[in-house]
Amino acid sequence: MACVALHVYPAQQKGELASLYVDPAHENQGLGRKLLQFVENKARESGLNELILLSTQAFTYFQSKGGFSEGTPDDLPPSRREKYDHSGRNSKVLVKKLKAAG
Ligand SMILES: CC(C)(COP(=O)(O)OP(=O)(O)OC[C@H]1O[C@@H](n2cnc3c(N)ncnc32)[C@H](O)[C@@H]1OP(=O)(O)O)[C@@H](O)C(=O)NCCC(=O)NCCS
Repeated sequence: MACVALHVYPAQQKGELASLYVDPAHENQGLGRKLLQFVENKARESGLNELILLSTQAFTYFQSKGGFSEGTPDDLPPSRREKYDHSGRNSKVLVKKLKAAG
């Protein structure tokens, strides 16, 4: 019906929200938002500082429904940055801070 993943980068205390997908037969019922909230709660429980994600199609969804802001490739952990640079997909980077800086 729907899926989502959280990939943790412990060295940077960052989590990547990935693979969010809702079956078209079940869209617009709040499932996407529930999964976003689920991953955010998990990330907070795990003590992560920040969530990042890459999106080509659903950029405005993550801004308006998930509270994410536009980031840059510099926000990605180094290993993820390397994959990003080689993917050639030119996805946009989105970021959500989970803790106040400092
Ligand atoms: C984007 C997606 C996860 C949304 O899931 P959903 O369960 O239908 O979303 P919700 O029910 O939580 O939210 C629905 C709202 O989001 C809006 N929305 C849906 N898809 C959107 C998109 N691509 N861009 C902007 N807004 C979008 C709807 O218009 C609706 O707005 P409203 O509440 O103001 O009427 C789902 O459509 C999907 O899986 N799309 C294909 C895969 C994809 O793009 N995944 C993102 C990974 S990069």
